[in-house]
Amino acid sequence: MSSIINDTKLAAKLIENGELVAFPTETVYGLGADAFNAEAVAQIFATKERPTFNPLIVHIREVSELEKLFVEIDDALLKLAEHFWPGPLTIVAKKQKSVPDIVSAGLDTVAVRMPANQTARELLKLSGKCIAAPSANRFGMLSPTTPEHVQKQLPGLKCILNGELPKVGIESTVIELCQGEFKILRPGFITEQDLLKVLPQSKTTEANSPIKSPGLLKSHYSPRKPMYLLGKAPEYSTDKKTGFLAFSEVQEPEKYHLIERLSSNGDLSEAAANFFEALHRLEDSDVDLIIAEPVPETGIGIAIMDRLKKAVYQYSDK
Ligand code: TXA
Ligand code: MG
Repeated sequence: MSSIINDTKLAAKLIENGELVAFPTETVYGLGADAFNAEAVAQIFATKERPTFNPLIVHIREVSELEKLFVEIDDALLKLAEHFWPGPLTIVAKKQKSVPDIVSAGLDTVAVRMPANQTARELLKLSGKCIAAPSANRFGMLSPTTPEHVQKQLPGLKCILNGELPKVGIESTVIELCQGEFKILRPGFITEQDLLKVLPQSKTTEANSPIKSPGLLKSHYSPRKPMYLLGKAPEYSTDKKTGFLAFSEVQEPEKYHLIERLSSNGDLSEAAANFFEALHRLEDSDVDLIIAEPVPETGIGIAIMDRLKKAVYQYSDK
């Protein structure tokens, strides 16, 4: 069984020695290794059972570290960094040759972000390393927001760092930055409107350009139980215990064995913060299936619906 520790110094030593550490960020837990140690990074893929075509995010503590990672540091990048870092924004741009290919899955770009979580920042400071880290879940499964979630999915992992817990609750917004313009590759807490306030010149229409982010699979973030969107589930039956992931007030609550309400007053940020926690509780309960109520697709609701659609994909009519 993996151990949950509070000693950030020890965790930093492990990172320096080329070992893996799961650590909290403001979004979800990450599974980290020294980004410039290709063997250590290979262990991340093995531990998560993650396909090697899916590139990782490199976490940094200071803007000055960007020089080690990106070929070009232009005004647009610095503006974004100033407004959104530390925080849940990941920027993809052309990479330095010295960044190991395994980090970027052989692409000529690399994804970078500066986390706001105090424990993550302390780990970055004490180790003195850039830390490559995907979410600390087994590939395709629910993202973890507590040390116990990590332990459940990766029991063989040596070290899980306890500390300030994630607050945002879903993964960072991922954008590709090219010649001062951005494209959203994965929606998150920071929305297109937020980004356009900082880079108003950017054309974000991507109608003609199929997005290339190898990690963007249709099925992802799935609980180990069948899950459906409300209205798309098999006919209701009393033989099966149904769990309900609710956003608004629940109609006919007696139909459900367990109800997880994401927000009591329709607050989408609160819903995001509770999203994976609630799904982990439903997964761990004795329900046979999970039904999820769609949330409004505005602001961070876009990111929540992105996760919900991927969670139900394998059970939906395609
Ligand atoms: O909030 C987060 O972003 C968390 C915490 C731990 O930082 N990390 C996370 O990592 O969600 P992961 O590996 O689960 O998701 C990274 C996403 C994937 O969709 C991947 O395809 C995309 O970022 N990505 C990484 N490098 C890329 C690149 N060079 N080009 C395009 N997409 C990239
Ligand atoms: Mg992930």
